[in-house]
Amino acid sequence: MSGKKKMVIVGGNPLSGEVHVSGGKNTSVAVIPATLLCDEPCTIENLPDIDDVRALVDILRSLGATVDYEPGVHMVVDPTTADGFQVGYRNAQRLRASYYLIGALLGRRRHAEVAFPGGCKIGTRPIDQHLKGFNALGAMTEERGGTIIADAEELLGNDVFFDMVTVGGTINVMLAACKAEGTTVLHNAAKEPHIVDLANFLNSMGANVRGAGTDLIRIKGKPYLHGSTYAVIPDQIETGTLMIAAAATHGDVNITGCIPTHMEALSAKLLEMGVRVTDSDDSIRVRMSGSHRAVNIKTQVYPGFPTDLQQPMSALLTTAHGTSIIQETIFESRFKHMDELIRMGAQIRVMDRTAIVEGVPSLYGAPVTATDLRAGAALLVAGLMAKGETEIYEAEYIDRGYEHIESKLRSLGANIRRELVEA
Ligand code: EPZ
Repeated sequence: MSGKKKMVIVGGNPLSGEVHVSGGKNTSVAVIPATLLCDEPCTIENLPDIDDVRALVDILRSLGATVDYEPGVHMVVDPTTADGFQVGYRNAQRLRASYYLIGALLGRRRHAEVAFPGGCKIGTRPIDQHLKGFNALGAMTEERGGTIIADAEELLGNDVFFDMVTVGGTINVMLAACKAEGTTVLHNAAKEPHIVDLANFLNSMGANVRGAGTDLIRIKGKPYLHGSTYAVIPDQIETGTLMIAAAATHGDVNITGCIPTHMEALSAKLLEMGVRVTDSDDSIRVRMSGSHRAVNIKTQVYPGFPTDLQQPMSALLTTAHGTSIIQETIFESRFKHMDELIRMGAQIRVMDRTAIVEGVPSLYGAPVTATDLRAGAALLVAGLMAKGETEIYEAEYIDRGYEHIESKLRSLGANIRRELVEA
């Protein structure tokens, strides 16, 4: 644990004031690999300064690209010098999205050797649909010694029918298809905001991607993509986490720089609980006083309730008035944080992919451990609303997806700090 830090929170302060949302993690980790498809330098703006972005800077540089990254300003990528095709175990393991380098390298140079990705342990997370899509475009794929090897004499557009809606599969095959010959049609495609954002970035380079945001995406391959300057969309999940934290602390927070239409499933649930949610063009105000009602949550693909907000939401539900039922339909093992919430006084019963939450008057601070990124977010929310002090170990998980989260929460009145973990 040497050098490891824990997050220490003294709960009970209602969050109030204004906070600006950072650029999206899940869009950034798709857009950055996509720069390898370009035939000229690209500039990406509004990137969040998080570990996943920094990992991708290292990966692009290891492939030979020139990357000028100024956190909070922009990232200038010159892919013209990138003649590598391998991503090793250590780099690939740093994040889930390292597997997007397969689609990007197939599109760029018809060959990729990428070690299996890392990412949150919330299920088995196979990539069979990604490989199915690459095979449909004419690429041979095989897994050898923990590395995925993809190779194509030529990449020819084709129809790809995903067996289930997969964000990663949709993104990965879209990347390869952009530089294939002919037209590719993705059927049963994911519709998340970051799919649309990636398509907009690709089209800004001269690609031809139509239908992103629907379940049918048509991509006409292009031999040459020109440079572009592009700003990624705000983070839908950070926005939601801040909305939940505002409600959980009975606060009054205005979240700026967000896209309210991306938040509709959560906003509707919060309104159902008795939380006051007011949308403006690019901000959402969340106010909560008095008690909040229990509700049922069933995670779905976009535009349903996001699985990434199930964990922070479960913290809010621990003190709702009544019994809430949470069904996690996307991942088979995304309830690990429930044990930690129980340590803080929550009353939760987990049965397979269903959690039954009996509301209690209050949570109490305790030492807890984050098991993945959004579990860490759930414990953050719990610590903010609990009576007393909470220590969150393995807080590094939180840094993977939330930029400067302590300073944002402190600016809203939270009593939160980071401390070295004692040996
Ligand atoms: C992306 O993961 C996100 N990660 C996840 O966010 C998010 O929870 C998830 O989409 C759903 O929205 C990134 O964007 C980097 P999927 P991904 O492919 O692409 C199964 C966070 O906290 N599946 O949509 O891995 C899979 O096992 C992270 O920011 C296959 O069976 O999700 C899962 O049960 C966590 N075979 C379901 O589909 C495949 O080939 C949805 O997975 C692909 C997926």
